[in-house]
Amino acid sequence: MASKAMIKKLNGQLNKEFYSSNLYLQMSAWCDTKGLEGSAAFLKTHADEEMQHMQKFFTYITELSGLALIGQIEAPPVEYKSLKDVMEKILKHEKFVTKSIHELTEAAWEEKDHATYNFLQWFVSEQHEEESLFNSILDKFNLVGSDNKQGLFFLDRELGQMVTTSAAE
Ligand code: FEO
Repeated sequence: MASKAMIKKLNGQLNKEFYSSNLYLQMSAWCDTKGLEGSAAFLKTHADEEMQHMQKFFTYITELSGLALIGQIEAPPVEYKSLKDVMEKILKHEKFVTKSIHELTEAAWEEKDHATYNFLQWFVSEQHEEESLFNSILDKFNLVGSDNKQGLFFLDRELGQMVTTSAAE
């Protein structure tokens, strides 16, 4: 059985996942207004994934007979300098989420809450994958250079194709 303190921490993470979804959805809207349709589709799919993460916490808290609490979710930033700026901000945000998941995992370990520790392992792997994905996307931006319009066109197209590929898996 999870402690009250652990339920509170799990609720904190639930709200961070909710914010992540809103952040990526807002970024998707920004990309759409800049004609970056591939990136907009990619980010919208990513926002859906974050909503699924939120739901995992919601379901787990409910299974523990805890009360899932949807708090006030801060509005995400609206303006971005470039698509590279968007990707840099995502990587920074994902690193923040990884740190939060690791702190939660350590707390579960210290409380000998094996069920929660086990539940969080999926998120530990997921965070590793997400950081690796955005690191590789940023590597591509560094390869083409930030002022290269043709490079940006191909990167946007590639991001759009990543949505098609993951939908087909
Ligand atoms: Fe659910 Fe990308 O953290």
